[in-house]
Amino acid sequence: MKYGHFDDENREYVITNPKTPYPWINYLGNEDFFSLTSNTGGGYTFYKDAKFRRLTRYRYNNIPVDNGGKYFYVKDGDTTWSPGWKPVKIELDHYECRHGMSYTKFRGSKNKLEVEVLQFIPLSFWGEIQKVKVKNASPDIKKIKLFSFIEWCLWNAEDDMTNFQRNFSTGEVEVKDSVIYHKTEFKERRNHYAFYSVNSPIDGYDTDRETFIGLYNDLDSPDVVSQGQSKNSVAHGWSPIASHYLEIELEPGEEKELIFMLGYVEVEKVNKWESKSVINKQPAQDMISAYDTADKVDKAFEDLRTYWDNLLGKISIESGDARLDRMVNIWNQYQCMVTFNMSRSASFFESGIGRGMGFRDSNQDLIGFVHQIPERARERIYDIASTQFEDGSCYHQYQPLTKKGNAAVGGNFNDDPLWLILSTTAYIKETGDFSLLDEMVPFDNDPARSKSHFEHLKASFYHVVNNLGPHKLPLIGRADWNDCLNLNCFSEDPNESFQTTENQKGGTAESLMIAGLFVVYGKEYVKLCKRVGKKKEAKKAQVHVDDMIEAVKAHGWDGDWYLRAYDYFGNKVGSSENEEGKIFIESQGWCTMAEIGKEDGMVEKSLNAVKEYLDCDYGIVLNYPAFTKYYIEYGEISTYPAGYKENGGIFCHNNPWIMIGETMLGRGDQAYDYYTKIAPSFLEDLSELHKVEPYVYCQMIAGKEAHKPGEAKNSWLSGTASWNFYAITQYILGISPEYDGLAINPCIPSKWDGFKMKRVFRDVTYNIHVKNPEHISKGIKKILVNGIAINSNIVPILEKGKEHSVEVIMG
Ligand code: GLC
Ligand code: GLC
Repeated sequence: MKYGHFDDENREYVITNPKTPYPWINYLGNEDFFSLTSNTGGGYTFYKDAKFRRLTRYRYNNIPVDNGGKYFYVKDGDTTWSPGWKPVKIELDHYECRHGMSYTKFRGSKNKLEVEVLQFIPLSFWGEIQKVKVKNASPDIKKIKLFSFIEWCLWNAEDDMTNFQRNFSTGEVEVKDSVIYHKTEFKERRNHYAFYSVNSPIDGYDTDRETFIGLYNDLDSPDVVSQGQSKNSVAHGWSPIASHYLEIELEPGEEKELIFMLGYVEVEKVNKWESKSVINKQPAQDMISAYDTADKVDKAFEDLRTYWDNLLGKISIESGDARLDRMVNIWNQYQCMVTFNMSRSASFFESGIGRGMGFRDSNQDLIGFVHQIPERARERIYDIASTQFEDGSCYHQYQPLTKKGNAAVGGNFNDDPLWLILSTTAYIKETGDFSLLDEMVPFDNDPARSKSHFEHLKASFYHVVNNLGPHKLPLIGRADWNDCLNLNCFSEDPNESFQTTENQKGGTAESLMIAGLFVVYGKEYVKLCKRVGKKKEAKKAQVHVDDMIEAVKAHGWDGDWYLRAYDYFGNKVGSSENEEGKIFIESQGWCTMAEIGKEDGMVEKSLNAVKEYLDCDYGIVLNYPAFTKYYIEYGEISTYPAGYKENGGIFCHNNPWIMIGETMLGRGDQAYDYYTKIAPSFLEDLSELHKVEPYVYCQMIAGKEAHKPGEAKNSWLSGTASWNFYAITQYILGISPEYDGLAINPCIPSKWDGFKMKRVFRDVTYNIHVKNPEHISKGIKKILVNGIAINSNIVPILEKGKEHSVEVIMG
């Protein structure tokens, strides 16, 4: 069953039934200021940091799910309704929610009154606009009442939900004209406030939640709305809100537009006050007047569209399958931007209060984003590298507001450092900007401890070399990519964290996932060294890479697949000798991408084993058989029921590693089959089972041993977005940036006749047409550039600002 449809022309997903199997959300904002919006108007807004600068309140894990947001109540005679269906939830005559590129548009109608709400954040602006259009489609005059509603969050979203003995006494507001100002804590250390405005005189307002809603009511029937009259309440403590009240008269056929703005302001310390206790409203006034007419708003909305035209114009394909085209051309790229912006910090699922930007997560997010806005990618790499230490280790996370490493979470996840080589080389290949390597970058955010960025990469590489275990394989630390494989953290105590209780002396557990990762990015490091003339370092590093390959062959091969790890006691993990968890996906992915033992058939055997033991109808599970009891020596992984999350779930983030591995063998049919199993647009008809949005990837789909295989969870913020984009564009379609050109090496389903890709690379537009007359999966017979054959599969960097044709004949 479907709950809507794709509108590719407008790059929208159009939800036509508000009762989706789970809230289907969208993200607004591209830099600094962000909102989340569900298909029923739920969600919240923040500046930079979902934890520390939260403007509006949201209650996670609520009943019903997704309660609280930016709501409108329309009172038309005796009927009250909401254009996004919630919170009033009465049946509408028409409901539509269009999630587009950084905007969401609701259209609701009831009794011949039509209301449209367009929500977006103009480029480089610290405010969300809600353009509300009301139209009387009836033959009679209508006198309607409109109430807006948001609930302020007292800035620190975590404190806001816990520290009630303080918070119920601190809330402060001011109301002037049509603007409600949220100035909680402004009189002390804060230099920022928020406001909610409308570009029209109002007939009343409320700022005290209990006055507006009534202590024993729900959001669907606030007192003020039921009575049809606001009470001009001014909040003193408790829970401040902002609600405008407008009486609107409409002739038959008449239409009126209102502009609401939810904004954030920072003022210099010396200019905080207009007079005693009265805040300086000038900055807010300036923001409001920037968008006080529908024309100004329409122009900003047009600019946003142009912005996305440009971003998405850099890579676009024609494959003959609309489902694939809309993933590559629209939604997957869009999700990559969102994960770049948020890392894992803000959603309904990650909750927006627990985590900042992850070291490994943000590095990986870059590979799906770097082609869009390379300058921002560069800044991000710098920020991430600044949280590293001289020995190559790093903080696992940092807060976006402060950009400082998060000491509470700490470090010692031994895969982390290597991802910096991935992001850096991806950036240089995309841009040709080697100067990043010479940039001075601090360690531990201390400018006095700066070294060149190249030295950071070197530290990353040698962090593995300097932390090898008994089999000369990489020590795992607290965990490798798999946060739940905590082989040095033993816990019998339910109140202990699995990851921070690293209590086994010496921590000798080893990871085959890091081994493969090291070989892949070790080779990249060597290649980079050679490219920048560091020949001696390249030679030295190559020895370590070769040693690792030998260590994997000697101690990491189980006969038919790669082992996953050695635990603290030196026992094998992910071996046919194990009772459960005999085979794991991560080491198969990384060791096959690294092509370790390919000449001896290891890569082929490993991928065949993946197909046999890990593949299922909904994707590739993480491990098999899933654990059914608690293994203290494995950590968190065996705490999950079989088939969920890291215990036998389909962790969509790692499926592309296998797709890429398959392309190493030239098995395009298999690679693409894995791709379509988890690509959301291919699952649209399964929405009832799949539950989450058919336009974005989710973190996890329940695996074959789960209670309900195929049911997905935790959409949006996942490394799945960038890895799938990387796998489909650079390995399956096979067009990948290299230091000196665009490499062409497709590995596609044999039945395809070919495909077209337009790729803007270093300001050059390549119109690539791949033809597959012999219906093979891999192999190139010839490449013609502007009609002339070249004898390499790397198309050089051609004249900038021009379009060039590249014809690729497979064979
Ligand atoms: C709260 C605190 C308490 C403190 C009191 C006065 O009740 O829990 O520790 O003494 O406030 O500030
Ligand atoms: C989560 C984390 C990521 C980790 C993955 C697997 O998605 O954000 O860092 O690699 O889980 O455990």
